[in-house]
Amino acid sequence: MHSAVIGLGSFLPPRRVTNEELSALLDTSPEWIESRTGIRTRHWATPGTATGDLAAEAGARAVKSGGLSPDDIDLLILATTTPDHPCPATAPDVASRLGLGPVAAYDISAVCSGFLYALATAHAHIVAGQATNVLVVGAETYSTILNPQDRTTRVIFGDGAGALVLTARQDARASRPGTLLATDLGSDGGQKDLIRIPAGGSRRPTTAEDPPEADRYFQMEGRAVFRQAVLRMSESARRVLARTGWITADVDHLVGHQANVRILTALADHLDIPAKRAVINVDRVGNTSAASIPLALAHAAEQGRFAPGDRVLLAAFGGGLTWASVALTWPDITPL
Ligand code: UT7
Repeated sequence: MHSAVIGLGSFLPPRRVTNEELSALLDTSPEWIESRTGIRTRHWATPGTATGDLAAEAGARAVKSGGLSPDDIDLLILATTTPDHPCPATAPDVASRLGLGPVAAYDISAVCSGFLYALATAHAHIVAGQATNVLVVGAETYSTILNPQDRTTRVIFGDGAGALVLTARQDARASRPGTLLATDLGSDGGQKDLIRIPAGGSRRPTTAEDPPEADRYFQMEGRAVFRQAVLRMSESARRVLARTGWITADVDHLVGHQANVRILTALADHLDIPAKRAVINVDRVGNTSAASIPLALAHAAEQGRFAPGDRVLLAAFGGGLTWASVALTWPDITPL
């Protein structure tokens, strides 16, 4: 049994936030943000809009793009760092709102690597014969966890959602468009403090003490994370290439986690892949964490960059630390 991508959907909340707008509120400038990150705009949900709302929009579009009805989906996996509530998971609510019926539905928390963790897990369910059509969603509302006073994180992250439908396929021909060929997952909990929300979990419950205001928000050691991101994504990508039997020259499109344009350029350089093969949309959406890879795929596909059968290498990195890579051939689909 193999798995293949048959549908792709995405959704951005309408409110577009410019570097100029943020520079009026924080000690930063449009020039600093663009030159250090490549980001020009990001989208933020309006108060009252939650991750599950964005996930449901993107999920519905992916199901439709795959030519399926909600009844055809038998598992939903949602990757997010910003669930609607600490408890329960957001996935069952999204499944219910999409009319999927009483299917299995659960969240995966691997921060910015979350979508590829979810995709690899969906693949494993299919190969094990446990599912036929899996809806894999990455959705985030980082605007709800960013410290309004912290210029080092506030300018970087955006909200959004993207989703793929992965289906079971008996035909093993790797060249058949859409086939998922190999995965690689990894972590290093020894460096968990590089990306964190210190308070609000069981180690520092907000009910048991009064943590400093800043510790309730997302925090990141940017420079150390930058180095780890390039190193871990390139190591993981090389492992997945070896499992696929591709060399770097075979890769038509490199879709890295959209954290920073300098990270994406460095990743291509480390892998010896020409920079023009790297997909970049961080300039318009910022770092959308678990939504980053499917949003990058959707935007590149909308621009007509992919042809059916193209060899696509996905690589992600995030808090945990976690990292993940996936190799697939591009499907013959119309993203919605
Ligand atoms: O999604 C999970 C993975 N996340 C990432 O991969 C993010 C990885 N890190 C990065 O993308 C970059 O490290 C950042 C964009 C976060 C920061 O860029 P940098 O070039 O690494 O800057 P830096 O952190 O080394 O800071 C350089 C200077 C500092 O000032 P001093 O100490 O040199 O005086 C910062 O305080 O820039 C300052 N700075 C800012 N200045 C203006 C930090 N943020 C800002 C800002 N505006 N928004």
